[in-house]
Order: sequence, then C-alpha cells, then structure tokens
Amino acid sequence: MASESSVRVLGISGSLRKGSFNAAALHAARELAPAGMEIEVYQGLGNLPLYNEDLRAQGFPAPVQDLRDRIKAADALLIVTPEYNYSVPGVLKNAIDWASRPPEQPFDGKPIAIMGASPGVLGTARAQYHLRQTFVFLNGHVLNKPEVMISQAATRFDAEGRLTDEATRGFVQALLVSLKAWAERLRR
Ligand SMILES: Cc1cc2nc3c(=O)[nH]c(=O)nc-3n(C[C@H](O)[C@H](O)[C@H](O)COP(=O)(O)O)c2cc1C
Repeated sequence: MASESSVRVLGISGSLRKGSFNAAALHAARELAPAGMEIEVYQGLGNLPLYNEDLRAQGFPAPVQDLRDRIKAADALLIVTPEYNYSVPGVLKNAIDWASRPPEQPFDGKPIAIMGASPGVLGTARAQYHLRQTFVFLNGHVLNKPEVMISQAATRFDAEGRLTDEATRGFVQALLVSLKAWAERLRR
C-alpha cells in the first residue's frame, strides 16, 4: 500500500504489439521503481478511436475520458515511445491529441519522463525529441535528464520480454529516481 506522499505514475507505452520492447521496458520500470513510487500501466491505448473533431463535439468517448481521468489523477507520467519513421507512432500521438483537448488540458504542469526502445542504434532519440516538442505546446514539464534511449533492443531483453541488460536497468532506475525528485519538486 502506497503512503500518501507516494508518487503515483501513469505509464504509457506507445506500442500495441504483444511482444513490444517498449511495453517490456515499461514493465521493467514498474519493477525498478524506487520506494515511494508506484507505476500504473495504462492498458487502453488500443481502445481509443481515431481523433475526430466531430466525435469530440458530442463529448469525449468513454475510453478518452478514462485516459484523461487517469492522467489528471497521476502525479507524473512515464511515456515509453517506439520510433516510427523518425517520430512518435500514430497510436501514441492519437492518444495525446485526444487527451489534450480542452477543457482542463491534463498535461498542463504535469511532470513527465520519456524513454524508448528500438532495435536500431539511436534507441528512439528522434521520436523522443518530437515528443518533447509536443509537450512544449501542452506545457508538460518533461524531465531533461537522464535520457534513456534503449538501442539494439533485441540484445537488452530476453525472449520473455525481461530487461536483462544490467546497464540499461541502471539507466531506467536513474530516470525513475529523477522523476520522483522532479514530481516532488513540482508538487511543492
Ligand atoms: C512504421 C514503422 C516505422 C519504423 N521506423 C523506425 C525508425 O524511424 N527508427 C527506428 O529506430 N525504428 C523504426 N521502426 C522499427 C521499430 O523501432 C520496431 O518495430 C520496434 O520494435 C517498435 O517498438 P515495439 O517493439 O515497442 O513495438 C519502425 C517500425 C515501423 C512499424
């Protein structure tokens, strides 16, 4: 049971793939969270409709409202993004676009950490910088450092999706410790 001062993090992986490296990285983060932090894994990405302003005009669809409520209730977000064509996958951008609509834009002032995993050598660096740019507009408070870019992902996870690379586990842990301090600092 978390104490009242515990930092509640909503973790969102931007992949719908069953064997996703990014989902696996998010699950590793859950295990590696420091004392006083709990990470809820968001499961609803695939239930969100494609963004359509006509739909929004009729009110937020239930899965969108659920996402917005979870973001609002969280002390911080951990977004784990794949890289698609040098950017953020459409499913993740779609979720952000839905959640970002007024009123009470839920990313405003929210502490956010970003990480990502890719089989390539840059480990989602380009997607992460695009995501940071999106959160400039939304006034999300994205942690600058450490950056966690998990490159050559197939060598860092085992066949069951466990993050086995010790150095990478350390990077993820360091990110979470910094996110906790960041969320506590912004809460004051
Ligand atoms: C449409 C598409 C575009 C991709 N573009 C990139 C890319 O720009 N850079 C990269 O490192 N990997 C790219 N990849 C490979 C993904 O990094 C790889 O599929 C990865 O496993 C996706 O994340 P996941 O394992 O969490 O599903 C792309 C994959 C797809 C399907």
